[in-house]
Amino acid sequence: MVQRVRGVVAREKGAPVTIETVLVPEPGPGEALVAIQACGVCHTDLHYREGGINDEFPFLLGHEAAGVVEAVGDGVTDVAAGDYVILNWRAVCGQCRACRRGRPQYCFDTHNATQQMTLEDGTVLSPALGIGAFVEKTLVASGQCTKVDPAAPATAAGLLGCGVMAGLGAAMNTGGVSRGDSVAVIGCGGVGNAAVMGARLAGATRIIGIDIDDRKLGWATEFGATHTVNSREQDPVAAVRELTGGFGADVVIDAVGQPETYRQAFYARDLAGTVVLVGVPAPDTTIELPLIDVFGRGGALKSSWYGDCLPSRDFPMLIDLYLQGRLDLDRFVSETIALDGIEDAFAKMHRGEVLRSVVVF
Ligand SMILES: NC(=O)c1ccc[n+]([C@@H]2O[C@H](COP(=O)([O-])OP(=O)(O)OC[C@H]3O[C@@H](n4cnc5c(N)ncnc54)[C@H](O)[C@@H]3O)[C@@H](O)[C@H]2O)c1
Ligand SMILES: [Zn+2]
Ligand SMILES: [Zn+2]
Repeated sequence: MVQRVRGVVAREKGAPVTIETVLVPEPGPGEALVAIQACGVCHTDLHYREGGINDEFPFLLGHEAAGVVEAVGDGVTDVAAGDYVILNWRAVCGQCRACRRGRPQYCFDTHNATQQMTLEDGTVLSPALGIGAFVEKTLVASGQCTKVDPAAPATAAGLLGCGVMAGLGAAMNTGGVSRGDSVAVIGCGGVGNAAVMGARLAGATRIIGIDIDDRKLGWATEFGATHTVNSREQDPVAAVRELTGGFGADVVIDAVGQPETYRQAFYARDLAGTVVLVGVPAPDTTIELPLIDVFGRGGALKSSWYGDCLPSRDFPMLIDLYLQGRLDLDRFVSETIALDGIEDAFAKMHRGEVLRSVVVF
């Protein structure tokens, strides 16, 4: 039976989101229907509503969520009704050239539900990142559900579904931060502060948080930054060099994704260091760098999709760390809100007042 539920829809570019009735089909083969318990508001949702990702309006927003599987379709064996899961937006296929070579975190053919969710008039919705979770129930591919310990509340667990995982993974997976490294993180919002936390967990001894907003820098200190730099007041490249014996950081993470911040990351890293781009750039931006510097500085320029995470490996592990008190996910939750609070949450995000607003159902 098709379910009628309430969900948050961005109908057209730049227009405020609205709450609509969403029609969700019964799960077919390989699909799961999930009752959402909590879903964080991520900057990517705002990018969608501003038309910054693509033009496939209307979007069903929300993608950073945890909930309980209500029903599964034929052939689904990895999860069952009643399972407590975190949703992920990169359900690996197991068959593409990346998966076959044992690098599923780069899977080039990730799965989403086959059937579509629609508005009452039949208009097909584009679910944000193939999830769509600002809605009471959503339809996903079963591989998008990762079972975790239900002792972790959904407000915290759901954060691993996107931004916090992206930041933790940018440091721990893509950046390969290890004991004794120096790390700089540009942009200390939800993603950047998760990178700070990941760097600390991985054993970095010098962690420099960089932002243009002092409030964010205060939070970065709470998450484990040993030093902070306001890049409106101080040249961040010079500051990072000064804090690292004149050399630059081993790993610099750009959690903003603008040409300016990428250039800073490029020059704030030590020779043979690593730059990780985890902030999502606007489609029309470009960057020019002296090729001799690209060569001469050595090291690696990497991008991080979803923190190069493997949900089946990383989500249960991180939830265990959370339950042991070693990963304070609750600190990211600035406020819990209702489904009608998304526009306010976007405004607060824009003003820099929150790390994460989390919709609770
Ligand atoms: N790669 C991925 O898989 C992935 C996943 C989730 C989010 N993201 C992206 O990560 C980025 C950050 O997301 P978020 O949720 O943390 O957003 P956010 O709005 O919470 O944080 C952005 C931070 O950057 C700071 N900032 C803005 N301009 C700056 C500048 N010029 N220099 C220094 N700091 C600056 C802001 O003050 C803010 O603290 C977004 O682009 C988002 O789309 C990427
Ligand atoms: Zn694959
Ligand atoms: Zn996100």
